Amino acid sequence: MAAPSPGLGGSKSLKLHFELPVLAIESSCDETSAAVLLQGKILSNVVASQVAMHQKWGGVVPEAAARAHVESILPVISEALEKAMLGIGDVGAVAVTNRPGLVGALSVGVTAAKAIAFARGIPLIGIHHLEGHLLSPLSLQADLPFPHTCLIVSGGHTELVEVQKYGNYRIVGQTRDDAAGEAFDKGARVMGLGYPGGYAIQIAAETGDPRRYHLPKGLAGDTIDFSFSGLKTAVLRLVQTEGQDLSVPDAAASLQETIVSVLAERAIRSCHQLSSTALTLVGGVAANLALRNRLEEECNREGIQFLTPPIELCTDNAAMIGLAASIRLARGESDDFDLDCFANAELV
Ligand code: KG4
Ligand code: ZN
Repeated sequence: MAAPSPGLGGSKSLKLHFELPVLAIESSCDETSAAVLLQGKILSNVVASQVAMHQKWGGVVPEAAARAHVESILPVISEALEKAMLGIGDVGAVAVTNRPGLVGALSVGVTAAKAIAFARGIPLIGIHHLEGHLLSPLSLQADLPFPHTCLIVSGGHTELVEVQKYGNYRIVGQTRDDAAGEAFDKGARVMGLGYPGGYAIQIAAETGDPRRYHLPKGLAGDTIDFSFSGLKTAVLRLVQTEGQDLSVPDAAASLQETIVSVLAERAIRSCHQLSSTALTLVGGVAANLALRNRLEEECNREGIQFLTPPIELCTDNAAMIGLAASIRLARGESDDFDLDCFANAELV
């Protein structure tokens, strides 16, 4: 990727968003998605989920995910263009998630993006999946307040990030073991609620008592790091010791309450430590209603502006990749056709 230009987040004379329609593609895990954006506005966002297929295996099978992306990538792109009422000839740039993720899955999106950009002679840009999540609140407003703190919570990540400006991200807190999404998913699995677990826990928790079972919150003290592995073990032990007597709604509500309270406490502490006046909540776990409501309440009480995208833009989608690309393309960034995919990549 071209190095971020010195002006990233700087000069006011430059347009913040790319002027021409951007076609964005996301295929890093188990959703095939394409979106069309114009000047930072989402014209369409199509997501073909593989959840039903992976459900029978209880998790994402990488080889099967890649094959399913191959089948859906072109129909999904066509549908995104159709919904945006544009033709492929109208597209001014192609953006694609190229890191981090399942390499076989990523390469389907990257190959499609390269082919379109090459055939049309238009810019191609690779986007970091987490930068997509991080900038997804741009779906609410054309620009973001800086500096702000971002809580990224997904299936693979739990991070608190200080966002100084576009392209300038500093991870200030993170999980030392499992991600929050994993704690939801593994908790759901041992409770027999299936895959993916986060939404299933949220639904089961609706009728449960969150104070019924006491579960560990992980790290103690003034930290803004997280640890969810002890919680995972405690839920397994709870299920084994309670056996037939286990109340699944109460267990789900207790698990959700434990995760939500830890995330909210550390996010607010991090805003205080960084003197942030705004907090964003992004990533798949940001779809959790209890977490959204708790952080909204706490931010209101603390006088912190709270931004979280609509639920459909929390879980993986191409619109968020298009939003991040819209900013970078407007700064003159793009990639060569040797753009590669990476299983792991630092957020820079
Ligand atoms: O961002 P995402 O779609 O994919 C990754 O990049 O990992 O996040 C997926 C995670 C899964 O762990 C899923 O269980 C969780 O987000 N999730 C939820 C909810 N919806 C999705 N967790 C809690 N409550 C939800 N409503
Ligand atoms: Zn994600």
